[in-house]
Amino acid sequence: MADSPVSHHTPDSPPQEEANSNQRAQMEQAYQQMQRKMRMSKMSEGIRHKIMVLSGKGGVGKTTVATGIALSLARMGKKVGLMDIDITGPNVPKMLGIEGTELHIEDGQIFPAIGPHGIKVISMAFLIEDPDKPVIWRGPIKLGAIQQFIGDVAWGELDTLVIDFPPGTGDEPLTVSQTLPNLDGVVIVTTPQEVALLDSRKSINFAKTISVPVLGVVENMSGYTLSGTAEPGSHISMIGPKGVPIDITVSSEGKWSVTLDLFKSGGGEDSAMELEVPFLGRLPFDPGVVRGGDDGVHRIVAEPEGETAQSFSKIVEEILLSLEKGDTHHVKIT
Ligand SMILES: Nc1ncnc2c1ncn2[C@@H]1O[C@H](COP(=O)(O)OP(=O)(O)OP(=O)(O)O)[C@@H](O)[C@H]1O
Ligand SMILES: [Mg+2]
Repeated sequence: MADSPVSHHTPDSPPQEEANSNQRAQMEQAYQQMQRKMRMSKMSEGIRHKIMVLSGKGGVGKTTVATGIALSLARMGKKVGLMDIDITGPNVPKMLGIEGTELHIEDGQIFPAIGPHGIKVISMAFLIEDPDKPVIWRGPIKLGAIQQFIGDVAWGELDTLVIDFPPGTGDEPLTVSQTLPNLDGVVIVTTPQEVALLDSRKSINFAKTISVPVLGVVENMSGYTLSGTAEPGSHISMIGPKGVPIDITVSSEGKWSVTLDLFKSGGGEDSAMELEVPFLGRLPFDPGVVRGGDDGVHRIVAEPEGETAQSFSKIVEEILLSLEKGDTHHVKIT
């Protein structure tokens, strides 16, 4: 019994024996932590860039943007990993149509699932027995699970790891920033409304608190594009949002298109300017994104040359520029 690492203390055990087994348990724990840390630092060496996707509030499109960035990078030939840290509502696998995947686990390491364009995906959803049942974790247990989860994934060599989070600036991104060394930066997702500034400011201040640079702001659900064909050179008149008249001249090829600002435009760009961080670009409001989210076929996969896929390509180019230059913005505001 003296050799067992587990405490066998009973009310009758002598205090010395209890102290010894406590010490042994602590040593065992410290050893495991050390091993995990070593694995983590080795794993981290194989990953060139690590990007966090955050937003000040929920439902603005973080998961859509995180999966879009990952797919867009993969289409450019990069080796990409996507980690879903949203424990209570992990929906990355559903968005990518791989939710039923059984993960391969070997020697205590978890091997990611393979998604469209070969992206490696890891999500708590793969480890939860009934994905329709909400998981309720108490704070420290949740954070312990995240740390363990991160440390045990066998990513192999990656150009970029994209990390999706639950809404807000809570414990999850903080834990990840303390667990994963050398994070390259944060991509902030916001919407065009005026509250965007407030939300982006929250996320930017958070990035400052955890000393991670801000790669920039993405404005999601920005405008809705209508297009069609008509007599070349003819004029089309319509009434836009707030009753503003819109006049369009049809091109010589007989095509026309107009982008309507459904909410307001420029909230993301304005906040990037005001908060002195790069503006990475806009993503249009696209009903196909909602359908894709439900069907498990991301818009980039369904329509690789469509407007949304093209917007993602531009955003990813901006991100790559910032990453290559290494001049991501350490934020000044308070
Ligand atoms: N550009 C877009 N056009 C149309 N619908 C969109 C767009 N971006 C996101 N959506 C839709 O908005 C909803 C929320 O998107 P998503 O799940 O990506 O947001 P989230 O910020 O990750 O949410 P949560 O905070 O709950 O994690 C989804 O139904 C998604 O399909
Ligand atoms: Mg999400």
